[in-house]
Amino acid sequence: MEYRVLGKTGIEVSCIGLGCWPMAGMVGGANWSGIDDDESVATIQHAESLGINLLDTANGYGAGHSERIIGRALLGRRERYVIATKVAPRSDDPDEPIQQFIARNCEGSLERLQTEYIDIYQLHGEPDEADMPQIVEALTRLVEEGKIRCFGISTYETEVMRSLMSLGDLAMAQIGYSIVNPVGKAGLRFAAEENLGTLIRVPLAQGALTGKYFDSLSRLDTQDRRHERFDNPRIHSALRKLSELSFLVAGGKRTMVQAALRFVLDTPGVTSVIPGAKNRAQLEENAGADCVPPLSPDERMRALAIGREADWPLPPYTNWT
Ligand SMILES: NC(=O)c1ccc[n+]([C@@H]2O[C@H](COP(=O)([O-])OP(=O)(O)OC[C@H]3O[C@@H](n4cnc5c(N)ncnc54)[C@H](OP(=O)(O)O)[C@@H]3O)[C@@H](O)[C@H]2O)c1
Repeated sequence: MEYRVLGKTGIEVSCIGLGCWPMAGMVGGANWSGIDDDESVATIQHAESLGINLLDTANGYGAGHSERIIGRALLGRRERYVIATKVAPRSDDPDEPIQQFIARNCEGSLERLQTEYIDIYQLHGEPDEADMPQIVEALTRLVEEGKIRCFGISTYETEVMRSLMSLGDLAMAQIGYSIVNPVGKAGLRFAAEENLGTLIRVPLAQGALTGKYFDSLSRLDTQDRRHERFDNPRIHSALRKLSELSFLVAGGKRTMVQAALRFVLDTPGVTSVIPGAKNRAQLEENAGADCVPPLSPDERMRALAIGREADWPLPPYTNWT
């Protein structure tokens, strides 16, 4: 497994991480079907043997369930993993000062994760401009107290990254990027110029780029959060177009999943890609993207053209809701 340093932090992360949103399962309206908590724990523990040390979660995933599963899995092995979690950038209680909101939510995450520190603490979306100084002050205090090692933000907006950098030590950004989602390109360029670390979310377009839904959505559980969103004519037609990506697996050199992850990994500015995985088998295939052949420049161009023509209709996730 290749390890990359996250920006200026000195934190070494595997270039392939584990997105733990699906591990929220059906709890708190997360609605990821096919999740078994014991298998989630085994998957997180198995990551270590595959060389994966990076876990991404959020306090909001399944109302804390994803964090609780990580806490359970890492008992006795905490120091071998890098945990990235998130906090909303504004309180749902207008009377609660934002500094207090952030400090309180950090305590909640520490408790659920059963740890004394969070490695990477991310704002789960863009704060209001007026709140930025207090937010950076609160995050800086958490660093000083040793409760978090660094902080960053999940956003596409380079101007927001720039504003936060002017106020304090912003270390990283979480950005969406994939064969069907070019929106993150500007953020990646900015991150590379400023030496910000990057974690790349939704690299498989929530499963659309795995290839298993190219010909049919019948494999998608009707209880799953994607069922309603995927089951519409524009998605059907986009998936038919995406089936042309199968040229990337010709000769058995890589699977479709690995091609989609490799595409992201070889994009300048990327530190680590964090595909969600529901079980050990998926995690193993994802980890394998580390050592498959990179896409040639020609393959990348063809893949991007297919992605563009597919015109993937779902908006990229942009905030904490
Ligand atoms: N705003 C934010 O900050 C934000 C937003 C979204 C996500 N994220 C983070 O980014 C991570 C990744 O995004 P995501 O999980 O939404 O989507 P994703 O990584 O694009 O897709 C994950 C889904 O693809 C399928 N899959 C994964 N590996 C597979 C394999 N090897 N073979 C077959 N199917 C496979 C699984 O679903 P099925 O098997 O059911 O198809 C899995 O749930 C999240 O877990 C979360 O940590 C952050």
